[in-house]
Amino acid sequence: MNSTSSAPLQRFLTGITTTGTPHLGNFVGSIRPSVAASRLPGVQSFYFLADYHALIKCDDPARIQRSTLEIAASWLAAGLDPQRVMFYRQSDIPEIPELTWLLTCVTGKGVLNRAHAYKASVDKNEAAGNDPDADVTAGLFMYPVLMGADILMFKAHKVPVGRDQIQHIEMARDMAQRFNHLYGEHLVLPEAAIEESVALLPGLDGRKMSKSYDNTIPLFTPREQLRKLIAGIVTDSRAPGEAKDTFGSALFQIYQAFASESETAGLRQAYADGIGWGDAKQMLFERIDQEVAPMRERYQALIGNPQEIEKLLQAGAEKARAVATPFMGELRRAVGLRNLASNAPAAAKGKVAKTAAPAFKQYREKDGRFYFKLLDADARLLLQSRGFDAPKAAALAISALQKEGSTALAGLQDMLETAPGITQGELATALAFFSASQD
Ligand code: TRP
Repeated sequence: MNSTSSAPLQRFLTGITTTGTPHLGNFVGSIRPSVAASRLPGVQSFYFLADYHALIKCDDPARIQRSTLEIAASWLAAGLDPQRVMFYRQSDIPEIPELTWLLTCVTGKGVLNRAHAYKASVDKNEAAGNDPDADVTAGLFMYPVLMGADILMFKAHKVPVGRDQIQHIEMARDMAQRFNHLYGEHLVLPEAAIEESVALLPGLDGRKMSKSYDNTIPLFTPREQLRKLIAGIVTDSRAPGEAKDTFGSALFQIYQAFASESETAGLRQAYADGIGWGDAKQMLFERIDQEVAPMRERYQALIGNPQEIEKLLQAGAEKARAVATPFMGELRRAVGLRNLASNAPAAAKGKVAKTAAPAFKQYREKDGRFYFKLLDADARLLLQSRGFDAPKAAALAISALQKEGSTALAGLQDMLETAPGITQGELATALAFFSASQD
């Protein structure tokens, strides 16, 4: 009986493969815009550590673990608020590999043959006269299906990704369409969200900053190391006093990604006035360090406290599974993986019984006041409100709980009582269901 009006939330979802250490290019291109987007009203964000994907590229267990820690700490240090967003580790959600299998069964092998990453490996083998599938794992071949499961599991509307990932989002759409065609409307068709204005940061050698070019500046490298790396950015050979060109200057582009418009105008003028490269590098170093230093401190504190991050990820997994577990149940029933004793309607294509889910019940008491309670999927009482004077006030409280989850509890504590024997975790899990399941 969720009769409250709540504006539909747009769900954004992004995975970060856990195979490296974040660098300034990742920060400018992905971390910073994502953290900013996660604070917008009307948006629900899902960020997860794609560690199953990491296994496809990396067979070094220590590196997988270290990178997972570093990436989690980086996002948190950059201001990601795990109360506000879903922040979890892919391998904590067993429903994801389970959905991967259901999607595998509706995905054409020929479609996967055409996936860019797989095809590139095959082309390379053929060019070298090798067996086409030499050194190609089935993991690489299945990469797009696992990614489709990541996205479809949480009914994401928008998936912010780089251009190289567009094909994967299109494949996820195709999988969803095919599944819905066979089994009814269960999956939401996602769209890629390509941020055109996000700067591609050049690296030390002027090419795009990328691990594969070995030209990166690690985001949280110590201050003195940052200074040294910046001193190594390529410049031309113009002497101090000679006017410099901003066009094509890696140093200028990196500065621009961190500076305000007026600061950038200042450096442009300094270029025209013949600033020496040493001084320009000093300006760039100070500007980056100014932005990064407070985050670096938080990062160091987080890295030194892995059990804290582990706890956050466990809590994130609990919230995410509050959505994934019932939804997976719905999908299992849809395809016919059913309790044999349940008398499901025989093969009613496209019509699947609604899953039991937590629900708010609103009612009026004899005292003339307006009340609500929250029940879990088994109709157990979780939360009881006191009497509101107006139905609108009760509805607003429900709406806040549905949108903000347990974050809303503090502001409403005078009006709510947790039922005896119910833990805060159980409550958070039930509430997370609403914020994540609004279409
Ligand atoms: N393939 C993505 C990349 O390499 C990472 C990723 C895994 C992802 N699962 C995802 C991105 C789901 C978006 C949505 O960047």
